[in-house]
Amino acid sequence: MAKVYVFDHPLIQHKLTYIRDKNTGTKEFRELVDEVATLMAFEITRDMPLEDITIETPVCPAQSKVLSGKKIGLVPILRAGIGMVDGILKLIPAAKVGHIGLYRDPETLKPVEYYAKLPSDVEERDFIVVDPMLATGGSANEAINSLKKRGAKHIKFMCLIAAPEGVEAVKTAHPDVDIYIAALDEKLNDHGYIVPGLGDAGDRLFGTK
Ligand code: PRP
Ligand code: URA
Repeated sequence: MAKVYVFDHPLIQHKLTYIRDKNTGTKEFRELVDEVATLMAFEITRDMPLEDITIETPVCPAQSKVLSGKKIGLVPILRAGIGMVDGILKLIPAAKVGHIGLYRDPETLKPVEYYAKLPSDVEERDFIVVDPMLATGGSANEAINSLKKRGAKHIKFMCLIAAPEGVEAVKTAHPDVDIYIAALDEKLNDHGYIVPGLGDAGDRLFGTK
């Protein structure tokens, strides 16, 4: 069964407050999303495997640990997921980045895929799918389907804000995918927006309306 992790770190919660605030402008919004993505990457990589190596400190030989060469694939859901990529790459610079383009049809709220480009060795990588918002869960589920269809075996999903409806939808469709959230909000409104949420993540990141 999928595990759901809600990060309660004070720095994440503090920055999220300003991300939510409608008076936060595009530049600051972008910087804060980048910072929270870095903090979340720190938490999400807790289970990365390590191996022992021997090194020489200036004092003596020593047994120490390094990451054991796990191949990571980072997949932002376009467009808003792009805002989280650089923040994560600061901690996992060797990750390959794939892209999946989806938009929500405003009438049906169903996701429509318009782009997919992934690393060639999909089957060997552990993937982190990122999107600031998990609302109905349609986009996350479609992106995960798209990855699985191409052979991905290990997938985590990471977002800033989730609605309970979206979490349930992903847990049901993909019980093998753990979900990492900075904040679990109250509900969706009639337009499929998260309440209280942050508004339209793509528009706020890129200054569109
Ligand atoms: C937003 C958001 C997610 C999706 C979440 O993207 O970035 O991808 O909605 O909603 P869901 O869980 O109900 O699918 P949007 O479709 O607005 O596209 P954009 O990133 O191009 O603005
Ligand atoms: N997409 C957004 O950008 N915001 C929401 O609240 C829901 C979906």
